[in-house]
Amino acid sequence: MSRAFVTRRIPDAGLDLLRQHCEVVLNQEDRPVTREELLRGVAQADGVLCLLTDRIDGEVMAAARAVKGFANFAVGFDNIDLPEATRRGLPVSNTPGVLTDATAEMAWTLLFAVARRIVESDAVMRSGRWPGWGPLQFLGGDVTGRTLGVVGTGRIGQAFALKSRGFEMPVLYADERPNETLERELGARRTDLETLLRNADFVSIHVPLAPATRHLVDARALRCMKPTAYLINTARGPVVDERALVEALKEGVIAGAGLDVYEDEPRMAPGLADLANVVLAPHTASATITSRDNMALKAARNLIAMMAGQPAPDCLNPQVYQT
Ligand code: GLV
Repeated sequence: MSRAFVTRRIPDAGLDLLRQHCEVVLNQEDRPVTREELLRGVAQADGVLCLLTDRIDGEVMAAARAVKGFANFAVGFDNIDLPEATRRGLPVSNTPGVLTDATAEMAWTLLFAVARRIVESDAVMRSGRWPGWGPLQFLGGDVTGRTLGVVGTGRIGQAFALKSRGFEMPVLYADERPNETLERELGARRTDLETLLRNADFVSIHVPLAPATRHLVDARALRCMKPTAYLINTARGPVVDERALVEALKEGVIAGAGLDVYEDEPRMAPGLADLANVVLAPHTASATITSRDNMALKAARNLIAMMAGQPAPDCLNPQVYQT
């Protein structure tokens, strides 16, 4: 019977499915595996179900002598050296589709929370220091009719943009490719990044992390934004220069930010947590019960296929199957 190494506990739906097909070796503790545990675990496995917190590089792949593939429990796969996996003929898969709406909803959650200062308001209510209604308390930003800027219009960016319909927002988007759905459904206009940053009232990031997108939003980009604008990031932390963001938020270069992801998780840039004009979530954009169940099922199905020597449904490097 083949053996799957699962680097951390995932929803039972996925584990139960895997157990019907193979032996499952599971990191019993609810924490990321250490590097040593990872190297040891992959050395004894035929397949690996890994998480975005596991760095799967050449060293891990070299240790994974019998492994027939890596199934990532995430749609993002910047934690895996995909070119190296491809060079070694190792299939890699991710979990697209099943977390699209949950992630888009989180971007909207952060957008409203930061614009309407919900976290600050909640803290005052709990503290017992609310003196009663006042005309100048917690003034925030409007959403309806304001311009939405969407950076990256793949599955999640597109779903996020489409959900703006009820708020009658002009939509600008920046992407390598035109998005016909957004242009048809919303009259969205494709622009370069700088035009988007200069004109949007809300800028939401939805690009994958890659060398070309690292620090895409840096100090200079932040200075292009309106002082009344908000930045939302549910993609990957390193797409934004977090230290530059802290400075921009302190100096009023932009009005606020809603973040689900950080440059060096679980750490945050110095000063970020002290700012009132940010709303901070712990990388939970896909954390709905249904979404995580479906991610677990998808990752398990991918791994089962890989271990059987069949193409994984969500294979990111299908060229490994061409001999
Ligand atoms: C979460 O960040 C994911 O990539 O699925």
